[in-house]
Amino acid sequence: MLKLKILELLKLYFGEIIMNKAIYPGSFDPITFGHIDIILRASKIFDYIVIGIAKDNSKTNFLFTETERKFFIENSLSEIENIEVKIFDGLLTDFVKKENSNIIIRGLRVLSDFEYEFRMALMNRKLDDEITTMFMMPNEKYTHISSSLIKEVVSLGGRVDDYVPPQILLELNNKLNEK
Ligand code: PNS
Repeated sequence: MLKLKILELLKLYFGEIIMNKAIYPGSFDPITFGHIDIILRASKIFDYIVIGIAKDNSKTNFLFTETERKFFIENSLSEIENIEVKIFDGLLTDFVKKENSNIIIRGLRVLSDFEYEFRMALMNRKLDDEITTMFMMPNEKYTHISSSLIKEVVSLGGRVDDYVPPQILLELNNKLNEK
């Protein structure tokens, strides 16, 4: 917390990008150990990470509200000092600029991620050439999981305790069983 305050104060004085600050965007519906693994790795490389949760919109059917998703992330990562969780609306590149950053972090798990990530990174670069997307690989224990797969398995009564924190597991069961 102290490190965070010092960085914010420096930013106030100098009013420019003085930090090696990266944005880790996603739906996080809900956050998994795969996401957490990427955040832990990134928090050791960058001074400061802003986790950007995409706001609910009419096109996407999220299981959890943006406030719930934010709460889960904050709870799961309360030990890490140099991160902050924010909800964003609209274009990711606008959010990255607003945050005075020029780095987007995305996780790459399997080859099938590549095409989607490649298109998104190039479109974001077209939208703002100063922003660079950097890819990180999670621990191999998590390369086959996604939030969607976890929701599917829970809804069918399967076990996913190796992939999400216990509190989220409870919430997943509550939500998916009440449906
Ligand atoms: O976890 P996800 O669902 O793969 O994250 C996708 C996300 C939220 C990063 C992407 O949909 C996004 O950036 N949305 C914001 C709107 C936007 O900028 N769209 C154009 C992307 S090229």
